[in-house]
Amino acid sequence: MRVLVSGGAGYIGSHTVLALLGAGHDVVVVDDFSNSKPTVVNRLESLSGKHIPLHGIDLTDRDKTDQIFSETEVDAVVHFAGLKAVGESVEKPLEYYENNLDSTFSLVRAMRRHGVGNLVFSSSATVYGPNAPLPYSEEWWPLESSNPYGWTKVFNEQVLRDVAATTPGMKVALLRYFNPIGAHPSGQIGEDPSGIPNNLVPYIAQVAVGRRDLLKVYGDDYDTPDGTCLRDYIHVEDLAAGHLAALEHLARQEDSARAYNLGTGQGTSVMEVLRAFERAVGHDLPHEIAPRRAGDLPATYADPTRAERELGWKATKTIDDMCVDTWRWQSANPHGYPDA
Ligand code: NAD
Ligand code: WQD
Repeated sequence: MRVLVSGGAGYIGSHTVLALLGAGHDVVVVDDFSNSKPTVVNRLESLSGKHIPLHGIDLTDRDKTDQIFSETEVDAVVHFAGLKAVGESVEKPLEYYENNLDSTFSLVRAMRRHGVGNLVFSSSATVYGPNAPLPYSEEWWPLESSNPYGWTKVFNEQVLRDVAATTPGMKVALLRYFNPIGAHPSGQIGEDPSGIPNNLVPYIAQVAVGRRDLLKVYGDDYDTPDGTCLRDYIHVEDLAAGHLAALEHLARQEDSARAYNLGTGQGTSVMEVLRAFERAVGHDLPHEIAPRRAGDLPATYADPTRAERELGWKATKTIDDMCVDTWRWQSANPHGYPDA
């Protein structure tokens, strides 16, 4: 099938583009490069040996979005495009609501107009909010969040459930990612955060490559085995495979919209991640214990059984795999992607 990948130049999108091409699908990338660089697409082309049609547009522009569907026959859409920095969303809520909702409105309008039925949406474990019991199950309701970014995921899910329920032929998979890390085994593509990384593994990787002095471990007095927070880290390659499984499942899906957790089901602590990264690098990394970070939950991890049962998908990679692959990418590209 031909799959339109919105946000296909971004971290998770780029890995999924390669997985789609590897499985024999055709791909069209749409990205405005607000948080990525066009050089990503050159690397994807050289890794896959295939030409990738690219539309450098802002998806909130409904006419331009529709135009792509007029010019290109599309069978399915994987919608990654969106702004994703939690802290920034607190500072700029309107920008987050506008970008993350308007881009979905444009895409879904164009899909309806052009009779495209299958959509895979990037949701997040953040929709479980602070009160869901562990492990997080798709049965949990109501969804909520503690920041505007997370609310854009809650709202997008609701929009897609409502539209799919009333649009004949429309099927949506809402994929709730846990903590994606890792990189393609080639070391050619990976996560390239702009500015100071907010997330743990990109930060450790920049300490390891000498761009940052030391890791601050935010709190070691949580009620967890070693006192540091537990998260469900998932390799981006496993995540990419989950999108393929979801796309293939959509035709068989009984509900018009259905949510799936994409996680391993295991909680790994901040200190365990640091130790795994040290093993990948081959030496200790400087760190210090710092105060807790506001808003952090002590532990989050998935119940991934629905995805296994219904999509036939299961995460396969270990935390060591994730750190080895992140380090291969970071050490080969200490400053991320070049500008041109
Ligand atoms: P990313 O920032 O690397 O990729 C998103 C891409 O979308 C970027 O290339 C950006 O330029 C593009 N984009 C943003 N707004 C756009 C617009 N209006 N029009 C066209 N392109 C636009 O992020 P990622 O880590 O690859 O995340 C992909 C998706 O997965 C996002 O929706 C994110 O919220 C979601 N998600 C990410 C994580 C994570 O930890 N990385 C976790 C859960 C969910
Ligand atoms: C993991 C752990 C930190 C940095 C965020 C978003 C979430 C989702 C994924 C999109 C925590 C600790 C971190 C550092 C540290 N994104 N840490 N020192 O907070 O689980 O999730 O990204 O949907 O919505 O909130 O991930 O990587 O920021 O933190 O000690 O320098 O690492 O306190 O315990 P988080 P994270």
